[in-house]
Amino acid sequence: MTNSSQQSLRPFAPPRVVGIDGASALAGLPIYEEFDMADLTNLESKLGEVMGLAMAAQTATEKVSRLAADEAPELVESLDRMNGEATETERRCMAVVETIEGKKTAIQDEAAATKRKGAEMLKIYLDDDSDALDGFEFLTMAEAGEVGHWKVLKTMTDRDGDSRLSELCTWAIPIQERHFAEVNQGSVRLAAAEDPAAVSG
Ligand SMILES: [Fe+2]
Repeated sequence: MTNSSQQSLRPFAPPRVVGIDGASALAGLPIYEEFDMADLTNLESKLGEVMGLAMAAQTATEKVSRLAADEAPELVESLDRMNGEATETERRCMAVVETIEGKKTAIQDEAAATKRKGAEMLKIYLDDDSDALDGFEFLTMAEAGEVGHWKVLKTMTDRDGDSRLSELCTWAIPIQERHFAEVNQGSVRLAAAEDPAAVSG
């Protein structure tokens, strides 16, 4: 039996339907993924998570910037810088993700899932009554989470020896540590201006 006839005997496995996009829906056609979803390594999954946290941080800093605009305009500049650095972090993560053959979509999916979880946390924590201090407290948790995740990624990267990821961690960790310090200082500054004996509103 030749190779080609062996191949022809393989049962036909239809591609898995993964969803319907706008254009395909108009044509009444489902879209298919070309390959089964790639299994991610712990390292690749962690890269997706830090990328998703950077995406979530962009939304969070925008939201807190709006809360601080009237109450503490002097803190808005630092939030804007954090927002820009979160955008740059996402871009640099994506640049590495694009070099990982066959895993790009799965890592992006991981990032999107993390971003979604971050958006849900933001929605739960900050409601219509939230003030700038609430916003900075939320960012303190979020930035601490980013620092922690980047250090986990660095530990895995040190063992794996991937130089692109190692460079990315070396660039990102001091920035995330500064973000955490700044939002923590912002919280303390706003707390100092509050009357501890006033009724909490
Ligand atoms: Fe950050």
